[in-house]
Amino acid sequence: MERWDRSHAAELVSLTDLALPGENLTEDDLVACLWEDDDPTVVFALPGGVAAAVARQVGDRRVGFVQLVAVAPSARRQGHGRRLMAAVEEWAFGEQLALSLQVGGGAPFYLWPGVDVHATAALCFFEALGYAPSGSELNMSFPSRHRAPVPPGLVLRRALEEDDVVAGLAFVGRLWPRWVAETRRAVEHGTCQFAFTTTDEGPGGERPSVVGFGCHSVNRLGWLGPMGTDPEHRHAGLGNALLGAIATDLMAAGLESVEVSWVGPLGFYANAAGATVSRAFRGYGLSRRARGSA
Ligand SMILES: CC(C)(COP(=O)(O)OP(=O)(O)OC[C@H]1O[C@@H](n2cnc3c(N)ncnc32)[C@H](O)[C@@H]1OP(=O)(O)O)[C@@H](O)C(=O)NCCC(=O)NCCS
Repeated sequence: MERWDRSHAAELVSLTDLALPGENLTEDDLVACLWEDDDPTVVFALPGGVAAAVARQVGDRRVGFVQLVAVAPSARRQGHGRRLMAAVEEWAFGEQLALSLQVGGGAPFYLWPGVDVHATAALCFFEALGYAPSGSELNMSFPSRHRAPVPPGLVLRRALEEDDVVAGLAFVGRLWPRWVAETRRAVEHGTCQFAFTTTDEGPGGERPSVVGFGCHSVNRLGWLGPMGTDPEHRHAGLGNALLGAIATDLMAAGLESVEVSWVGPLGFYANAAGATVSRAFRGYGLSRRARGSA
């Protein structure tokens, strides 16, 4: 069993292209998700790169996340997946002292919110390994030609200037502290926009207030999120304007649709942009106690 560092990123892309056709995981997606944050991460691989599993332990929550397991189609049903997951479990429960292991999820940095419900082999695989299902999560999508006007008195600006970034991250931190890490990464990627008032409404009247934000391509190219608007500026079209701005970015990047990742309020995206459910994911989990008694 090998442990791969980021110098193997291209090999991992080749493997995921083979094992997960249509996912189009980019080298940037994989590097950012697996090797660019401070939480402990491990990428196990079998010699020759026919199979790899990735796990990550988030903060001090004592939960490990299986972010990816992939075996080349020609090497399946030979126990490679089982061997990889044994190594992942040994790492998570033995080295990292995790209390449980979840498949997918692992915000802020994740590749899927769970196991795609159409990935029959993967569903069977995790069941065979004793993982218990734990709820579902959805993605939605809408066309990248979607546009919506910015409400009067507001302006959207890409997060580029230091002052805007500081004010924007403070806004996100105040209302949604759990989204600061993803927003910061979107700022680094140039894929975060903040909404500002055009009049001086700041606490000291010295600068415009931040009243909303929208990000995309944080973990996966073309995936929207996180986004949010100030409760005092809702129902005026600001959220929809942010959807339009993100769609504009993604159309320029050559994408025909916007994938809304791990959706919260379904109705908002359905009403604002005509989004429909595009993917469904099932969570799976295993506790250290359950593995110990297996
Ligand atoms: C899921 C996957 C990793 C399994 O890898 P694998 O090397 O074939 O798994 P193993 O040989 O270790 O299988 C272990 C057990 O899982 C179950 N299993 C695996 N694939 C199965 C399938 N297609 N149908 C039914 N059961 C299956 C079986 O119980 C199997 O034991 P058995 O062969 O003794 O009956 C592989 O199919 C894959 O790469 N799929 C695409 C990637 C994917 O969807 N990943 C999930 C995203 S995180």
